[in-house]
Parts: sequence; structure tokens; C-alpha cells
Amino acid sequence: MAFPQGFLDELIARNDIVDVVGSYVQLTRKGSNLFGLCPFHSEKTGSFSVSPDKQIYYCFGCKKGGGVINFIMDEENLSFPEAVQFLAKRAGIEVPEEEGSRDASRKRARLLDLNRDAARFYHQILKSPRGQPVRDYLARRQIHWNTAVNFGMGASLDEWDILMNAMLKKGYTKAEMLDAGLIVQNRNGGLYDKFRNRLMLPVIDTRGDVVAFGSRVLDNSEPKYMNSAETPVYSKRRVLYGLNLAKKSKRPNILLCEGNLDIVTLHQAGFDNAVASMGTALTVEQTRLLSRFTKELVLCYDNDNAGKIATERALQILNNSEFTVKVLQLPKRRTPEGEYVKQDADDFIKNQGPDAFERLLSGSENGIDFRMAQIAGKYDLTSDEARIAYCEDASQLLAALPNAVEREVYTVRAAETAKISVDAMKLEVRRALKKRVSQEKKAELRKDLNPAAQLQPKEHALRYDNVRSARAEEGLLRLLLLDDTLFPEKPPLTEEQFSSPLLGRVFFELWHLREEGRPITLSSLAGVLSQEEMSHITAVCQQPESLANSKQALHDYISLVQDEFDKRTGRNLDPLLAATQKYQKNKDTLGTGGKQHG
Ligand code: UTP
Ligand code: MN
Repeated sequence: MAFPQGFLDELIARNDIVDVVGSYVQLTRKGSNLFGLCPFHSEKTGSFSVSPDKQIYYCFGCKKGGGVINFIMDEENLSFPEAVQFLAKRAGIEVPEEEGSRDASRKRARLLDLNRDAARFYHQILKSPRGQPVRDYLARRQIHWNTAVNFGMGASLDEWDILMNAMLKKGYTKAEMLDAGLIVQNRNGGLYDKFRNRLMLPVIDTRGDVVAFGSRVLDNSEPKYMNSAETPVYSKRRVLYGLNLAKKSKRPNILLCEGNLDIVTLHQAGFDNAVASMGTALTVEQTRLLSRFTKELVLCYDNDNAGKIATERALQILNNSEFTVKVLQLPKRRTPEGEYVKQDADDFIKNQGPDAFERLLSGSENGIDFRMAQIAGKYDLTSDEARIAYCEDASQLLAALPNAVEREVYTVRAAETAKISVDAMKLEVRRALKKRVSQEKKAELRKDLNPAAQLQPKEHALRYDNVRSARAEEGLLRLLLLDDTLFPEKPPLTEEQFSSPLLGRVFFELWHLREEGRPITLSSLAGVLSQEEMSHITAVCQQPESLANSKQALHDYISLVQDEFDKRTGRNLDPLLAATQKYQKNKDTLGTGGKQHG
């Protein structure tokens, strides 16, 4: 990313981090920082902080952090150049044309054109005589022609290269078709159409672009559904099938289902607010997308075990969100033989009709009801032992409810379920609550006692080989970022003297910023560090550092790093010599310039 430096500096200056983050996260000021609920992980208490002075954000919970460009990269899932484009647009400044990013966006545009042309091609086939088998299938599923058109449905033929040849004729290359996932390569290098003899369901995003395809076989063969793989224009975490239509619905909420054809049936029956996550669990990215269109979600997953797990997972993701969440529980269907079998939304509408579904929808329970019922379902409440176990189990859920009124209401309900007095149930909940609070306190305490644990994310710790030296290197960076007048005339250390390659690199990046007379901020490093590295450095800068006696502190940090380097490389054989060398070095590096601090 060869953006001119001056442009990047202006971009950062014109996108104040408080404004930018504030448009995604509700922030409240606490002291010199602002806090809010972290957009990158689910939480109840705001561990997400923004520092207007340092122009950085940092989450004490998930340890993500960085400057304004990093925030947009994470929040909007954009690459560095894309995030720069995004912020430039936001601030109304022009992006100097840049080779790489222009290529990338041109490529995206090509793939989207290709997808659209492919969708048109499949649709033409569906309308043609050769589309008869798929039209028959639509009839068997009671999907009307209008609905099929509305969803842009198509047909792929039982042939190996009909799409490929049609798209070649339109001027697309095989490489582009491979990138779009429309053709695949066999072991001998031969290319053939990925989708054959299927009902084609284009996946259309909220901008109206065809980003991918879902497809279904016409019989009972496997795999039943075949979807596009991830491509440069398709990330399945960020798309919901049917949202292109549901976003225009007049209904107050959005219905989340499992299957593509559930959506089709629901829309046809008048529930044009239905969307599907296409067989995957609901993702945080999808909830963010949904929040642009509604504040109320209704989960309508299948009434089997997998569906219950999907519901529970979705509830967890939505736990601290701004959404009101309801759960619509589809009843099982009783067969003439007296067996109870699963039905999905599609089955239910076909068996019971739209009105019955409307009744279910208006009677759908909220997420707590669902969970309470799940817990009750685990126990045979006729036995005393089971009732006791139920109370314990339920009290844990109740204690976790953030809202006292809700807690009260559901405590009463749990008491009724267990057939015990409300007072006894209340006592049980209070006990669970106490235990929770003390556990949370202990966890906090552990964090306070062990700042290193805060510093190093467990999963992807950027490990230090020499912790003693690395801590000093960190301190050095912190001081220089806090007060750039502390920069000595010459680099006091060489890059190899840093025990941590990352910290060494950052030091010299800051050094270059200074040499070029640019602002010395973490935000400026977005283009040269990975998101993970940036989070790590932001964590480093979150640690307290005093500017009192800063010159002495800087000096101490530098000599400690030098000492450790000497130890590592065996240069401390003569301690007296080492000491004088060190003295000499310090004199050289620190004896000149700089104003007095502290
Ligand atoms: P289901 O197996 O529940 O199918 O998959 P369904 O939606 O009821 O399908 P019909 O009614 O038989 O047509 C739910 C969703 O999971 C995804 C699809 O998006 C499907 O709609 N899925 C399922 C796949 O991606 N691949 C599969 O092989 C099966
Ligand atoms: Mn189905």
C-alpha cells in the first residue's frame, strides 16, 4: 500500500478516533478515556476503551486494539487499503490513486459482473424447455413462478461446461470463473462447471450484488445443498440469504431461519422478513448487518436437537446486543402412526398454513422463556431430588440476568415450576448471585495481580524470548509515544539489540516517523503492522508509564536492554569494561539535546 505519507497523516488527523468509534459504539467518558461495550466480543461490562489523547482504542477483554485505521479494518472487515478508502470517503478527502487497490476493486467488480451474468444465464435456462426438470421440482415444492423470479432462481444443466463456455463467450476468463467459484478444477487440471443439474439460488447482498450461489439437488442425492466457497466477493459470515428482500419488509422484526427454501416459502406466504444463515451458526458479523434494519429478531430454527443448539448459540451471541430477541418454537408434527417428527418453517406452513404461523409468531417467547423451558425440560419435576436440582440450575440462569426486574419476574415463574415458595427460590437466586459476584471479583483480582496476563492474549501471544529486556523495550516505546521530545539525537540501540524483533521494528518505525517530521502516533503504524501486532503494541501502550523522571527512566530502560543484549551475546565477560562502555554509550546517546521533564 503505497499511499503517500502526507495523505495518511491527514486521513488520521481528519478521522478523530472518538468520532469514528463513537458511530459504532456508545461511549461514556470515564476520566481521560471513554468506555463502551466492545464491538469485537460479547460482553456485559464495558472493557472497550478509547483514548482521545493517544488516538487509540483498546479492549481489556479481548485485547484488540490499535488506531483509527485498525478499528475500521476490524469493524468493517476491510483490508488496509480498503479501510483507508473508507475513512477517506468519511472525511471527504480524495485518495491519491494507487495501483494495488485500484486493481483489487477492479477485480471485485469483474467477479460481481460475472456472478450476475451467471445468474442471468441460469435464469434463462430455467425459463427454457431444458429447465423443465427444475420447474417440475419448483412445482413439487409449491414454489410459484413469481416467487422464483423474485428470488432470481435458475437452473443448472446436467452438463460439464455449458456455463463455462457461455461465460467465455461473454469475455470472462477461466481464471475469473475459478476465482468466483463457478468452475472447479479436477486432479488432471481439467475445468468443469461446479453447479450441475440443480436448482440455483443466487445469494444477493443488501446492495443487490450477486455474491454467491446456493443450490439444491432435485432428488434425494447428496450433497443436498451445494454453496459457493468463500471468494473475494463472498464471505459467508457476512451475508444472510434473503436479506436483500427482507430489508424492505414492513414487518417490525426479522425472522432468522436455517434453510434457504424455508425463506422462499415464508416470503411466499407473506413473511417477507425472513432470512437464513444458510446452514451455519449466526455470526457476530451477521448480527451487525441485521442491526442496520431492525432491532427485533425472531429465531425460528428447526425443532430438533441441532436447532436447539443453534438457538442457544444465537442467544449467546445476541446476549448483550441491542436486539430484542424472541424464539419461535415450531411444534413437532404428529404422524398418523402417533410418532412426533421434526418440521421446519417450510413444512409447518405447508401443513398448517400461514395463519397458524402468524399465531406462532405473535406468541413467540423471549430468549429467557426459551432457556427456562430448556432447563425445566431436563428434569422430571415430580421427584424431589429433581426439583432441587432444577432450582439450582435455574438460579444460575436467573443470577446471570442483568436486569433486576426480569430477575424478579422469572424467579417467581421458576418457583411456580418447581412448586416451591417464592421466598425459597429468591434465596437460591441470591446465593447464586453472590457466588457469581465473588467469582467475578476474583477473576478481576487475578488480572490486577498479573499484568502480564493482561498484556499477552492467551491464544495468540506474541512471545518474548527475554521478558526482562522486552519489558524495558516496551517502556522505551511507551515513553517515546508519550513524549516525542524524549527522542535522543541518534538511535540509542541497534535493531538487533532489541530482544523482541517486533518491539525493535516498532522502535525504528517511530524513529522514521520522527525523522520525516511526521506525527509520532500508533495510528500511523497501521500500514506496517498486522492487526495482531497492532493489538499487541496497543496493549503495551495501555500499561501505565510515568513521565516523572522520564529522562532517567529512558536511560535506565536503554541500559537494561544493552545489558541483556551483552549477556545474550557474551559481551559482559569483563564487568568493569562493560560498565565503562555502557557509561560511554549513555553519554553519547543521552547527553545532548532534549528539554527537561519531570
Ligand atoms: P436442512 O438439511 O435442514 O434442509 O438444511 P432444508 O432447508 O430443510 O432443505 P429442504 O427443505 O430439504 O430443501 C438447512 C440449510 O443448511 C444448508 C442449506 O442452506 C440448507 O438450506 N445446507 C444443508 C447445506 O449448506 N448443505 C447441505 O448439504 C445441507
Ligand atoms: Mn426443509
